[in-house]
Amino acid sequence: MNTLFFGQHIINLDEVDSTNNYTSEFIRHNVMQEGLLVRAKSQISGKGQRGNNWESDPNENLTFSIYVKPSFISIDEQFVLNKWVSLSILSVLRIHGIEAEVKWPNDIFVGNKKTGGILIENSVSTGINHSIVGIGLNVNQMVFKGLPNATSMKQQVHKMFNLNSVLEQLCIALEQNYLQPKADKSILNEAYINHLYQFNQEVKYRDNKGIFIGKIVGISTTGQLQIKAHDKIRSYGFKEVEFLDQ
Ligand code: BTN
Repeated sequence: MNTLFFGQHIINLDEVDSTNNYTSEFIRHNVMQEGLLVRAKSQISGKGQRGNNWESDPNENLTFSIYVKPSFISIDEQFVLNKWVSLSILSVLRIHGIEAEVKWPNDIFVGNKKTGGILIENSVSTGINHSIVGIGLNVNQMVFKGLPNATSMKQQVHKMFNLNSVLEQLCIALEQNYLQPKADKSILNEAYINHLYQFNQEVKYRDNKGIFIGKIVGISTTGQLQIKAHDKIRSYGFKEVEFLDQ
């Protein structure tokens, strides 16, 4: 692995409930360096955001978690971690000729289909103690039963990928960009907006008041989605708005 920290220590598992859960338990019992990576060929109950499951056929895709301690990020700005991870994944997809976008908050979309998901679990007290960055990337899977909105790298470019190489590329990108949230947030913010799915497009959303047409105009520092509708800008947290057009 051509990195300094990320993925220098890898725990390879054949089967686990969730690599995020495993990592969280593991670091409770062991003193670990940043960059510890836990990878599983198969997850029995992979976790997605908002209590969803993450489905991934065994051996076809990447499902892994990385342990980091981004103490340089304040709790208020923890959303910057989502930007760091999603933009790093986009940069690896780009190497393979795949132009992807981030569907807020951090789904990796190619066209109207999802090829990757991120679940960042932060342990916070006065600051961020540690984060477990869970990544599920659909690499070689061709058939997604019951998931009409899913796609994979192979489906997009009709080529089989070596999972170890893609994992290494992801570790390199994540490590290279790791200090960006500290150094210059404006670059990250701009890049995130530039790659934001449905940015500035008039499409349908649903919130607690019903269906409306609006356009995404920005993201607040705390990570809220800002949608403009009827000349007013409303801000939404994670579960407060649904994308209807996709
Ligand atoms: C989502 O899109 O809802 C997030 C999906 C995150 C899936 C990954 S797979 C590796 C890690 N372990 C988990 O249980 N979830 C994340």
